[in-house]
Amino acid sequence: MCGIVGYLGLKDAREIIINGLKRLEYRGYDSAGIALKDCDSNHFSVFKDKGRVAHLESITDYTFQSCLGIGHTRWATHGEPNQVNSHPHNSAKGRFFVVHNGVIDNYKELKSTKLKETVFESDTDTEVIAHLIERYSYKMSVSEAIRKTMSLLEGSYALAIIDTEDPNHLYACKNKSPLLLGINDDGIIIASDVMACVGYSTQYVPLEDKTFVEIDGASYTIKDIIGKEVPHEIKTIDIDYFNIEKGEYSHFMLKEINEQPAVIRTIINEYFDGDKVILNGKTSEAIAMSDRLYIIAAGTSMNAGFIGRELFEKMANIPCEVHIASEFAYNMPLLSKKPLFIFISQSGETADLRAGLVNIKAKGYRSLTITNVKTSTLAREADNFVEIHAGPEIAVASTKAYTAQIVILAILAYGLSDKHIDLRKELSKVAISIENIIDKKDYIEQLVKEYLTKRNCFYIGRGIDYYSCLEASLKLKEISYIQTEGFAAGELKHGTIALIEKDTPVIAIISQRSINKNTRSNLNEVKSRGAKTLIISTRSIHESDDQIVIDDVFELFSPLLTVIPAQFIAYYAALERGYDIDKPRNLAKSVTVE
Ligand code: M6R
Repeated sequence: MCGIVGYLGLKDAREIIINGLKRLEYRGYDSAGIALKDCDSNHFSVFKDKGRVAHLESITDYTFQSCLGIGHTRWATHGEPNQVNSHPHNSAKGRFFVVHNGVIDNYKELKSTKLKETVFESDTDTEVIAHLIERYSYKMSVSEAIRKTMSLLEGSYALAIIDTEDPNHLYACKNKSPLLLGINDDGIIIASDVMACVGYSTQYVPLEDKTFVEIDGASYTIKDIIGKEVPHEIKTIDIDYFNIEKGEYSHFMLKEINEQPAVIRTIINEYFDGDKVILNGKTSEAIAMSDRLYIIAAGTSMNAGFIGRELFEKMANIPCEVHIASEFAYNMPLLSKKPLFIFISQSGETADLRAGLVNIKAKGYRSLTITNVKTSTLAREADNFVEIHAGPEIAVASTKAYTAQIVILAILAYGLSDKHIDLRKELSKVAISIENIIDKKDYIEQLVKEYLTKRNCFYIGRGIDYYSCLEASLKLKEISYIQTEGFAAGELKHGTIALIEKDTPVIAIISQRSINKNTRSNLNEVKSRGAKTLIISTRSIHESDDQIVIDDVFELFSPLLTVIPAQFIAYYAALERGYDIDKPRNLAKSVTVE
């Protein structure tokens, strides 16, 4: 993970880097650091510490002008988050500063073979990079030294590098971790994500793996690892500045929960012409040609994948499997004859998914990415991609991307379905029903105060509701730190019911008539053992004491509604406990390490 921002130009490097890092904090927020050159002297200052970018801002010296710098916000992989392990890292003689996103797999080997005499300050894998570049810079040009170092590194890296002896240049390179250039007449930004460039650049250049960039004021050269110039594409930044601000909301998560009806309407506008679905022909063809779909995803996107499986199998009669990306990458199941691999990822950068994509591509299989970030690695590298149009999702806990993913999966499944529903109308109904739930958020906050009083909690459901329970429980545990499990309601009695004691909160999701009675009898079993039960059900099957009743929609779309109270439950449980809702501990939004 980690976020990188670097700048060389005529503007205030400190402002661009600090603001950029704030926008990249979703990538990690264990520590932050910046190296800046004083415009009036050749002096470089480094400020870095454990903690957030706001803390970095408070310890940074604002008394000098700077037009060259590199900054970093960290999600720790090697070494605890402390001042010494924070980036930038400096080379042994102090000539080079380096910030890094990624993991160097062979750093121990490099230490023991190439850097035997070097004294290391930190526990990081990154420090070897700074030392290696310096070591090679004695024998060759800096560009060659960086490329030589790249050739030795195994693993993933996006790097921004300053040579303190040549402040007219800034260097960058990458392999597997994302990196791009934000370009402008008065300077160039290096960043992990285009969001860092919004407001400063209107165009950007995404960088390919194993490329090296030399920036010289307003111009740049992109080369491959052997130093040959490579062609590149300049793209327009089309992110609206207001979409990446909180506006009237106290948290991004609350804003993003509230945006869900609008997101569904945007998807309808994007993918419908009247009542007809308009999709890239190749996408529909790829699905239709396959004999089995393999959904590969992680976290919330995987939970959306489970709903997708129900949609593909029940609407379109296509067999579908869902795989945990990190397992699939190195332990592939027996495959069908004509598989299609569907990678679902909000960020489009999740390393576990990319490892799987690389594997199946090497075997010649077809792939489709469903993502929120059309410029992402997974979108670029799959055969086809479908954009979910959720708009930037900033809160670490995914909300609107989940509903958007399900809506897209419904549209894909519908394309092959013989079910005659008016999809546009049904999805519009879902958007209105979500608004009805949003109107009840204060009431849900009260329920949270009454019911979520313990350190643990269970969500139970059957069929498609069970998959909603998986997402509901992930949401609750990741931001409120309440230990929560999503359970198939009928499975509790086979062991886990032993954990139920007086006042254990058990939340049931019941949206399917066919399993209504069964789930309710499982609820009785836990109630009689002291559990405090809270029920989310649909109007047509609700009972008088169910606490949260939602509208009836096309049954397979009910997960789009049942998740909304669950998102609010998680939000208010975290708010009640005073936690940092948008940046929960130990997590990062974009998980670019395996
Ligand atoms: O960007 P992706 O959708 O690939 O990310 C996958 C997971 O890391 C992500 O969904 C994670 O589980 C979220 N924190 C859930 O809210």
